[in-house]
This record gives sequence, structure tokens and C-alpha cells, in this order.
Amino acid sequence: MTFPAQRLRRTRRTAALRGLVRETRLSPEDFIYPLFVTVGEDVRHPIASMPGVFQLSINHAVDEAKRAHDLGIPGVLLFGLPDEKDEAASGAYDPEGIVQLATRAIKDAVPDMLVVTDVCLCEYTSHGHCGVVEKDTGQVLNDVSLELISRTAASHAEAGADIVAPSDMMDGRVAAVRAELDHEGFENTPIMAYAAKYASAFYGPFREAADSAPQFGDRRSYQMDPANAREALTEVHLDVDEGADIVMVKPALPYLDVLRRVRETTDLPVAAYSVSGEYAMIKAAARNGWLDEKTAVLEALTGIKRAGADIIVTYSAPDVARWLAG
Ligand code: PBG
Repeated sequence: MTFPAQRLRRTRRTAALRGLVRETRLSPEDFIYPLFVTVGEDVRHPIASMPGVFQLSINHAVDEAKRAHDLGIPGVLLFGLPDEKDEAASGAYDPEGIVQLATRAIKDAVPDMLVVTDVCLCEYTSHGHCGVVEKDTGQVLNDVSLELISRTAASHAEAGADIVAPSDMMDGRVAAVRAELDHEGFENTPIMAYAAKYASAFYGPFREAADSAPQFGDRRSYQMDPANAREALTEVHLDVDEGADIVMVKPALPYLDVLRRVRETTDLPVAAYSVSGEYAMIKAAARNGWLDEKTAVLEALTGIKRAGADIIVTYSAPDVARWLAG
């Protein structure tokens, strides 16, 4: 007597049968590829803790977007590095700011590429926090920050962004961004909300890449405690009620249980952000010969998709698209 499980195990001995019973398949269409755009001409500055990732001037960001498009990747996520920072984060909502200029340039050169913009103040504030900070107390002021965040989102939409992605985790940001977009005539611009964003050590390399490490304190007053999963569902419900079109869990690998629960709590598309530290860990181990990069990356991203992600934001998008093609 052969049991079904045994029969299936045997079928997996050939590639064709393995393919036939495979439950989860990665595709370049699953990915959004983050880009760090910086002022200046012809800059391609490597980020030490993220081998293969660069700060790119607009011309190089356009080339990178073209390459990603040719590989079948549908979207890029833009982060901006302004030349100046101040307490009001003015670079964030400047119509001629770095993300606004890059968005226009990419949409001109590769109109089919979806441009998603990260909407946050931390790359533009002199103190590196995601909102406006009250001088005396050092507290991040929620409601004042919302005004600047909404202005930033509307200026991205004005520049041609297809989707805006508020990542600051202030209370009420999705409603505020939605109201401002509607008011400015961008009723059809969707919001991808960083709904469950944890206060994570895995953002370390990103803060080097985006030059956005907080100059004092940390982000624990507005980002979530890694110990909490039910709270993520509350955050997701709030964002959905406020008008989010896509909800995101971030980071991905340490939060697969959260991802699965978010998948089960909403019928909206769910995105997972495989963050800089997840990328850096595998790169570092691979460079030491401790892991096989390709199989490790494919396994990690497959796990993220299996857990429930419809969309994966990953710095590995072009590598994986090439591996899948070849
Ligand atoms: C900005 C923002 C961060 C990331 C995306 N948007 C950093 C942070 O919150 O400190 C991290 C992404 C990554 O690590 O790849 N708020």
C-alpha cells in the first residue's frame, strides 16, 4: 500500500512533476524595486552595507528603471536624498525636489513603469525623524506632521507618481493623505500604506543608504513593538478604514506570522517589504561563502509570498528576475 504523501514525494523526483505540484511561484511581476535617488550629475555611489545597491543621480535612476522594466518588474519605489535638510523637511514637498524630479524623468523615459513614492519626512529633516519635532520636548508632533506629509504626497502625485506610499506611521496619515490627494484632483491615485511597520533593527543599512538615521532618540514612539501581532491587525483596519488601497507589512522575514494574519484579515492586496537588513544579511553571508546567495534569496522571497504577500518590495528584484529568466 502506498500512501498519497509517499506517492507525491516520489513525483517530486522529476522537475516536471515538482513544477506540477508547486504551490508558490515567484515572478518578476511580484516585485517593486526600491531606488535611492540623489542630487548631482552622474552619481552612482555604492552603499557599503548593501552590496549591489547604489545612490543614483536621476540619469542613472532612469537607466536602472529601464533595466528593471526590461526584466518585467512593474514598479520602482523612490527614496530621495536632498542636498539640504531642515526642521520643516522642505525638500519633501518641494515641487522641484529630488523625488518629484526623478518621478517626472522616469515617467518620461519609461511611461509603463509604475512609480511608487515613499512619502516620509525622515530623509528631509535635519534631525532624521519622520515628523516635525517640538523643540523643547523633542517629541514628534503628530498632527503638524500630517500636514507636511499630505503636502508631500500631493506633490508626488502632481509629478506623476502612480502610487504614494506613506511610511511615517503617524496616526491618521492615510486619511490625511487621501483628503489632500482628493482635494488636489488626484482621486485616482492609490495609497499603499505601510500599515504594520515595526521599529526594527533591520532598517540599519537603509539608514546609511538614505542618510536618515535619527540624530537623537529612536522611532519607537511611532513604529510598532516587534512583540505585537494583534496590534498590526488594528493598524491595518485603521488604514483600510481611512482609505488605504494596498496594505504593507514591514520588515518581512521576522514577521511572516503577521503577514499571514494580515492576508487573512483583508481582501485588499498585501505587500511585504523585505528590508535592507534582510538583503544585507544574505549578501554578507554569501560573501563569506556561508550561504548560497541565489538559493537563499529565492527561498526567502518564496517564503514571503507563501505567507501571503501579493507584492514584495525587494532590493533583489533585478537579480531574481534574471535568475527566474535564466
Ligand atoms: C522611512 C523608511 C524606512 C525604511 C523605508 N522607509 C526607515 C525607517 O523607518 O527607519 C526602511 C527600508 C529598509 O530598511 O529597507 N520611514
